[in-house]
Amino acid sequence: MKKLLLLSLLTGVVFADPTILQAKYKDITINGKKVKVMTIEQPDGTWGYYGKAGDNFDVILQNKLDESTVIHWHGLFLPNDQDGTELTQDYIPPGAEYHYNFKLENTGTYWMHSHYELQVQDLLAAPLIIESADDSKYQQVVVMFQDYSDKPVKQIMQGLMSPDNDAHSMHGNMDMSGMEHGDMGMLDMHDMSGMDMDLNDVTYSAYLTNYHDDSSPQITQVKAGDQVKLRFINGSSSSNFWINLGKLKGSLVAVDGAPIKPITDNKFQLAMGQRSDVIVTIPKTGGNFPILGQVEGLKNQTGLILTTDKKAKKLKIPTNASKVAPALNYDEEFKLHSIESLSFDTPDQVYQFKLTGDMNKYEWAINDQMWPNVTPIKIKHGEKVEFVFDNQTMMSHPMHLHGYNFKVVSIDGKKVDGAMRDTVMVMPNSTVKVEFVADKDGKWFIHCHNLYHNMAGMMTYIEVVPN
Ligand code: C2O
Ligand code: CU
Repeated sequence: MKKLLLLSLLTGVVFADPTILQAKYKDITINGKKVKVMTIEQPDGTWGYYGKAGDNFDVILQNKLDESTVIHWHGLFLPNDQDGTELTQDYIPPGAEYHYNFKLENTGTYWMHSHYELQVQDLLAAPLIIESADDSKYQQVVVMFQDYSDKPVKQIMQGLMSPDNDAHSMHGNMDMSGMEHGDMGMLDMHDMSGMDMDLNDVTYSAYLTNYHDDSSPQITQVKAGDQVKLRFINGSSSSNFWINLGKLKGSLVAVDGAPIKPITDNKFQLAMGQRSDVIVTIPKTGGNFPILGQVEGLKNQTGLILTTDKKAKKLKIPTNASKVAPALNYDEEFKLHSIESLSFDTPDQVYQFKLTGDMNKYEWAINDQMWPNVTPIKIKHGEKVEFVFDNQTMMSHPMHLHGYNFKVVSIDGKKVDGAMRDTVMVMPNSTVKVEFVADKDGKWFIHCHNLYHNMAGMMTYIEVVPN
């Protein structure tokens, strides 16, 4: 510190202190009980990281847990050695710290989470927000969804891997009660009656928004007539959500941090790992506005409440919606068009990612290989590439690539001028193609963002090598 001060005086350059982020335990109340979970906070209690376009991401990550960890900056463009994974550094042992420092290229909504074992299920995650100049127009509200189980994580994983697990029953944990044909969205009755669909492998005790359960949701004061930017983050281990704005309509302006041509609706889809920025205008008449997320295939919902009522408290989110939410589908993805376009028409190389699974053994593979026994895909620096995600399983897989984003160019055989994303949902028995220029060297993970699929093998990496 003293050295920095002296340097500042001599050079006239202002050196900001690094931001301290601590991976630590936290007590929260779930279903009336106090429980210990994990989180990533600054010493003053700020959850995650908030920066501005062009800032240096100068962060000291301190491990205050009694186990090792490593924290990944999901969605950021960064030098490979800053990516925060077991491919790019050693795990950080308890009591140790690790210094990250690079210039932020992104703006928008990102998140950080553990890349060590099953810690994401212990809620070791946080928002990572980088404001653009434009954002000063809005009140900004982070809405991060997580799923919580009171079972120890290892037990959940063992349960999935044991031969008589629930997930092997034909509908997983899809709640069929109260379902009407009209709720089914893209599903048809063939999917429902057959063996070819699985939604939720894990049964959860609660779904959380910013660490709050439905009995004591976060209540956020807003002003009538104001515009609010809702930054949705799906930080769940194994749950896909339908965002539900209730009485409000919203304009979806960015996905996975990248701007799109806005679309207006009051329901949006959010797969594991994905983010969506939605702008809503608070009506002049004011009131309470629950902002919800409902789990696909279930009635369960979570959320927070925007209110213009200064004295509002003791508001609740109904634990269950009146109807079961359908499975996510491609309807929304087809409507998304990035502002940014690709710099090429035809790729130099096409790489296949065949996604397969064995529900009975609970094994998930990419190109018949299961992490850690994988052969990385070598790509030459600057190559224009297409990745083909060919999902041959009965479950959807939100596929995430580190360090890059890619443009969605084809969904289920139909060409699209799609969104730029870092995590794309690949529906059961379907194919999605994405394209990008491989211009960042290093080893970059590519994996399913369902934590249990990821841990049960569905992860590999690409290695971009200098030309
Ligand atoms: Cu969200 Cu490998 O990460
Ligand atoms: Cu998966």
